[in-house]
Amino acid sequence: MKKPMIELRQVSKIYHVGGQEVRALDQASLSIGEGEFVSIVGPSGSGKTTMMNIIGCLDVADSGDYILDGLSIDRYTDRQLAVIRNRKIGFVFQGFNLLTRLTAEANVELPLIYQRRSMSERKKMVAEALHLVGLYDRRKHKP
Ligand SMILES: Nc1ncnc2c1ncn2[C@@H]1O[C@H](COP(=O)(O)OP(=O)(O)OP(=O)(O)O)[C@@H](O)[C@H]1O
Ligand SMILES: [Mg+2]
Repeated sequence: MKKPMIELRQVSKIYHVGGQEVRALDQASLSIGEGEFVSIVGPSGSGKTTMMNIIGCLDVADSGDYILDGLSIDRYTDRQLAVIRNRKIGFVFQGFNLLTRLTAEANVELPLIYQRRSMSERKKMVAEALHLVGLYDRRKHKP
């Protein structure tokens, strides 16, 4: 078996709501290898979003380990998590969360500016990414 790219080991997340404990994730474990496609399916309230937020480094677990690409990311600060999101994670949100006043190419370019890529490098990467998803011809369009 290939080495896992995303690995949750007995991860728990408890929310506190009005003195009540809500156990959103209770020692959940999961392993996803490179190149695998995985869907997380379950009833409303079963903890899918909680798990996705942890996998996407938008939130951290209360206990257990999360190993992403060989790195244990449990004790990272918000700033370190932001760097990991920028470098390693792509999100497609249900509501897209694109910047409506920016063109397609400017939306794609933004995280590369945060990565301090040069302008020529950004141009090349943006063109490649837009070609890949068939949006190059609409690069000047807004969302
Ligand atoms: N920010 C929060 N504060 C308190 N409780 C929360 C919070 N987020 C989620 N919960 C609770 O944690 C549990 C898991 O919620 P979660 O949103 O992860 O489920 P879900 O599987 O994504 O549900 P849905 O299918 O409705 O999106 C639920 O009982 C929910 O009420
Ligand atoms: Mg959800």
